[in-house]
Amino acid sequence: MRIGIFDSGIGGLSTLLACLRRLPDAHYLFYGDSAHAPYGDKSPAQVRQWTEEAYAWFISAGVDAVVLACNTATSAAVAPLRERADIPIIGIEPAIRKALTDHPQSGVLLLATSITVNGEKLRNLLGRLENGQERVRPLACSGLAEIIETQDTDWSARVRRYLQMRVQPARTADIGVVVLGCTHYCWINNLINDTLGGDIAVVDGNDGVARQLCRRLGVPIGTDTAPSLPRHARISLYFTADNDVKSRLARQLLAASGVSMDRQPDLPHARACSSNPGPAGR
Ligand code: DGL
Repeated sequence: MRIGIFDSGIGGLSTLLACLRRLPDAHYLFYGDSAHAPYGDKSPAQVRQWTEEAYAWFISAGVDAVVLACNTATSAAVAPLRERADIPIIGIEPAIRKALTDHPQSGVLLLATSITVNGEKLRNLLGRLENGQERVRPLACSGLAEIIETQDTDWSARVRRYLQMRVQPARTADIGVVVLGCTHYCWINNLINDTLGGDIAVVDGNDGVARQLCRRLGVPIGTDTAPSLPRHARISLYFTADNDVKSRLARQLLAASGVSMDRQPDLPHARACSSNPGPAGR
């Protein structure tokens, strides 16, 4: 079974890890659109186009399902993509329902990109949930995913400064839970918790995506709430710019989570970049 995982960059690796917990034997094709990242402050029309290009690439690679491991791409592109897709498309959206249900007395701080915060998809979701508009405070974090994506020597210090200046002031006394509405932020959940006083719950939508992927593929979900990660996984990486550097970084992040990659056939990088991508080797 082949599964395509798509994000602008390394954020989607956190979703890949969640999928690996539930479907450890699948072959994952990870596509990071580093040529156009970050997505968050671009126009929804551009993000839609790049998501469609990634989808075409996955189709030519013969995947059985595509996971949009990017809240921004899901907000901008999942609906039109699903209209013409022949395979399951699983999108990710902020785990607001879970936050409201698990923390019935608390206000919810939602951290996401500008596209996600200003999108119709979020507006509709908040409108559907009881007291959604009143209890959820969305905060657009422009530039945060970009800092996380660099993973350079002082990235975590810069994240801390960003959180202190932009996010800390939004933590009013009623806020008891933070929803990570951007997959990049899953790499900084400890920094978020620390900066906000160490006593706040932090939730993301990754396991929900993995479960939905299982449902759509007809794979039993099982009763385990947090299955362990496999030590080896079948993963092929492709980044639309700086592929070697980005792939090395991705391997390091996966290894830091205890997952090493079994060697897979190389993907056709050069052709994959063109508007008419060739199929990846099986
Ligand atoms: N990781 C993506 C998301 O979940 C996008 C971050 C970005 O490229 O701005 O929203």
